[in-house]
Amino acid sequence: MDLTHRPRRRRTDGLRPLVRETSVEASDLVAPVFVDATIDERMPIESMPGQERVPISETIARVEEIRATGVEAIILFGIPGSKDPRGTRAWADDGVVQEATRRIEHETDMYVITDVCLCEYTDHGHCGVLEEGACERAEGNEEGETAADGDAMAPETGEPALTIDNDETLALLAKTARSHAEAGADMVAPSAMVDGQVGAIRDELDRVGLEHTAIMSYAAKYRSAFYGPFRDAADGAPAFGDRRHYQMDPANSREALGEVALDVEQGADVLMVKPALPYLDVVRDVRENFDLPVAAYNVSGEYAMLHAAAEKGWLSLEDVAHESLLSIERADADLIVTYFAESVADRL
Ligand code: PBG
Repeated sequence: MDLTHRPRRRRTDGLRPLVRETSVEASDLVAPVFVDATIDERMPIESMPGQERVPISETIARVEEIRATGVEAIILFGIPGSKDPRGTRAWADDGVVQEATRRIEHETDMYVITDVCLCEYTDHGHCGVLEEGACERAEGNEEGETAADGDAMAPETGEPALTIDNDETLALLAKTARSHAEAGADMVAPSAMVDGQVGAIRDELDRVGLEHTAIMSYAAKYRSAFYGPFRDAADGAPAFGDRRHYQMDPANSREALGEVALDVEQGADVLMVKPALPYLDVVRDVRENFDLPVAAYNVSGEYAMLHAAAEKGWLSLEDVAHESLLSIERADADLIVTYFAESVADRL
């Protein structure tokens, strides 16, 4: 037996750290923050233990807690005071994200990314304006859905196509991104999966002199059942129908490279793949095919399932959280949006 090569020699306590290929750093992590205009006290998010919605008055306190762990960036989600068919509170100057952003930029050194989408702001819960007649066609098709069912569980047949008006939504997303940037956001992150959204936002920002505001595109965003708990957190579940006509089919990977290429052409600064763990092949593909930084979004379901198992005593939460983020680093993402940001950074 030839044992010239004994890889175990490199696994001693002295050598292992020296030859370690990847690591999780606080500076790679982005923590999601939910600001809610309808509450005046912090509210825990049941399906995401340890996460909460905060009122605007608590924004700074929340951001400072995160900053104390070493995390230097957040992504802001807003729950507006009211909703309507077009999502007009999304681009209101006194909207919840705009207000929170102004305060954070004024009082902290946190890097602020804002999620740009309409699903939290529209009364129907879709990521844009509905095509004419879409509501009527979809009505009565699905009743009694819960956040945990997620719209991804909706049957793929038997109901007429429900979809959003792509081109009309573009202008609304551009307005929304612009209002976030005017409030001081460092980077805007369009997540609606509307064709042309990055270009429309880049044009609008440049037109009004906001050429320094960066864009992180949710370039390859899948129509995933792993977003279930987020719908609970941000109150953005579609009232009917699902998102399969705009988010990507989980069965596809080549298609992701096409989506990403379009966003690169339109001026994206950072390319995101979402979700992360079930799509690490896509993270790697994007890494290998493009030179821009790659972000991975370790989504609500990925977080909730580890918590649920840990609660049952089946997994060690701290260990699986760290290992999850390491695997995303190994796939070669540059930055990770994760609900574990605070707890993992705190232990580094
Ligand atoms: C808004 C948005 C969603 C998430 C981030 N931005 C929900 C969705 O697209 O259905 C999901 C994040 C998560 O699950 O953690 N469009």
